[in-house]
Amino acid sequence: MNGLCPVEIKFENLDYLKKLISKSRGAVVIAERSTSDLWGLTPTIESAGVIWIDSIPSNPTQREVVNALKAVGDAEPNLIIAVGGGSSLDLAKALSAFRYMFEGGKATIEDITKAITSKSYTAEHRMIDIIAVPSTSGTGSEVTKWATIWDVDKVSKFSIECSSLYARQALIIPELTASMPASLTLATALDALCHASEAFWAKQTTPLVKEIACRAVDIIMTNLGPALRSPADIRLRRKLAAGSVLAGIAFSQTHTTACHSISYPITMKYNVPHGYACAITLDPVSKLNRPATEDADMLFECYERHGGLKNWLDDVSFGIVTLRLSAFGVKRNELQDIVKSTFTKGRMDNNPVDLGETDVLDILCSVF
Ligand SMILES: [Fe+2]
Repeated sequence: MNGLCPVEIKFENLDYLKKLISKSRGAVVIAERSTSDLWGLTPTIESAGVIWIDSIPSNPTQREVVNALKAVGDAEPNLIIAVGGGSSLDLAKALSAFRYMFEGGKATIEDITKAITSKSYTAEHRMIDIIAVPSTSGTGSEVTKWATIWDVDKVSKFSIECSSLYARQALIIPELTASMPASLTLATALDALCHASEAFWAKQTTPLVKEIACRAVDIIMTNLGPALRSPADIRLRRKLAAGSVLAGIAFSQTHTTACHSISYPITMKYNVPHGYACAITLDPVSKLNRPATEDADMLFECYERHGGLKNWLDDVSFGIVTLRLSAFGVKRNELQDIVKSTFTKGRMDNNPVDLGETDVLDILCSVF
């Protein structure tokens, strides 16, 4: 297996995707019905003889995994085509991991929780090949071996991770991203910017990851503003898609760090979109990490070429979102409570500077 990225990455167009689906009888297609209508995919999916999971709530929990298993039932698919944002790709990986663990796909929420926490899904067993077709430019999930499943009781977030969960193929179709509203284009690109920046300074980074991460940061900072102003420009969408895939490859090697770790309770408790929840703390975390990061100037020179990270974030989000906690309904007296839930194992301890509760509170106060 290629250590950097075992996923075949293809850039194609919508017609290619339609042909792929129409010759995939027996496969599972995970694609939200409303967006499939928008992309003109619905007639192709309905006539292809596939199992169509057409409703994908954002931030899927064990319940959505159970429902997806039920939708597949006794069928024995050998391919999942997942078209959508991070949630579709997360659900595809969960379905791949769990379908053949449970007879007839019959599992309860408790079964899924147990399988995740005991990591029993990592034992050798049949999994389903995935073709990942991201419709946003941000999650990088098409080139990572992990997925997020949110706890149905909203007390924590689970990860599933296993080399067998890499997609067989990532199919990048920039046309799909052109229908995103500005807020989704922004949130997902900021997620990718965090993936690249965090990969750069992560404890597990490498010189190669740094080169890839800087290129991703530059592509995203160069093209996001123009793409927001000209949303139908496929050339700009292609650039953002490439930046997102590069960011995905970078953080697939390192995992994320403090920004992501701090983001999880903010998303869980206040429904702040993932990309915004991560980007809110990107500037203060970058400044804290700079002295502890070898070759940090590479990254900061890249930020500076675009006017500096803080200025660029303010400019690009102007008129769409205010990247402050108070703008999302967080109250100052709730910050201390948030702090307690920000220490995700494998993320916070992957930050180059060890952060304690007081440090995180300072960060949150600075972006309140
Ligand atoms: Fe992310």
